[in-house]
Amino acid sequence: MKEFVEKWQELLKERLDEITNQFTYSNVLRESIRYTVLNWGKLFRPTLTMVVLHDLVDDPSVGLDAACAIEMLHNYGLIHDDLPSMDDDRYRRGKLCNHLVYGEAQAILAGDALQAEAFKLFATLEVEDSVKVDLLAYIAELMGANGLVGGQSLDIISANEEREDVDLEQLNKIHFAKTGGLIEAAIITGGLIGKVSKETLEKLRELSYHVGLAFQIRDDINDLVLTNEQLGKDTKSDLKNDKLTYPKIYGLEKSQAILAEHTDRALSIIIDVFGKDSYTYQFIKEGLK
Ligand code: IPE
Ligand code: IPE
Ligand code: MG
Ligand code: MG
Ligand code: MG
Repeated sequence: MKEFVEKWQELLKERLDEITNQFTYSNVLRESIRYTVLNWGKLFRPTLTMVVLHDLVDDPSVGLDAACAIEMLHNYGLIHDDLPSMDDDRYRRGKLCNHLVYGEAQAILAGDALQAEAFKLFATLEVEDSVKVDLLAYIAELMGANGLVGGQSLDIISANEEREDVDLEQLNKIHFAKTGGLIEAAIITGGLIGKVSKETLEKLRELSYHVGLAFQIRDDINDLVLTNEQLGKDTKSDLKNDKLTYPKIYGLEKSQAILAEHTDRALSIIIDVFGKDSYTYQFIKEGLK
């Protein structure tokens, strides 16, 4: 699995370099986009797409552009997430945030462009038209008003709320929409290109729910317990903004236990769908540590 991941991460990087290099209309916009996208993060989501595809099809390369599109959507989300009107952060992946280098206007535009360009990539995939239409509708739903954007809206509105005013349902709703959406997109892209049955698609959806929540709970815990140097971004950001997070409601220890529960649920669904020897099992086990 390690070699598979290394190989596809190299190919993802090459392809993202190639795609973003074609944004030649405005040099400043291109540089702003490349500043963030090519300052590689963990590549968790696009690698997850490739890993799921490995377990479903003979040649995962059919999904390479879709995986790039997912990483572009993620980078759009991050550039906007750091803006002064959102989380107002300064560092991302060890470097100054996009808006602190290119200015707020170009950062907003970089995010806008990345979102549109990502949908163009989905629309030009070399897969059957019916698969493409399903993918486009699915991803748009996960990114839109009832998905990532809706989740970010609730995340902002719910800041400063008193502990008594919030319930678990609202907390999960925020976490799942703002973070789970893209993780679901990564998994379901593999599922739809791999033409899984309706029943399996339902299981992948359930898997996405647990992986998405686990990923954001871990991020919330890291925000509290790790340093800026360790994470490459501003820690204690959630405290600064008084964000509604698992640690705020449950404290660290209980949050760790909930994280472990979601991870276990995710792994048992993967065993059911792909088996314990699958790359998906190994990748998620490693990725949620
Ligand atoms: C950060 O995502 C934002 C969240 C949704 C928690 P990642 O932790 O995947 O960030 P990078 O891409 O590796 O920098
Ligand atoms: C980010 O959540 C979610 C999206 C970007 C959509 P956070 O605000 O917790 O992410 P970090 O901690 O800044 O990476
Ligand atoms: Mg945020
Ligand atoms: Mg943030
Ligand atoms: Mg965070």
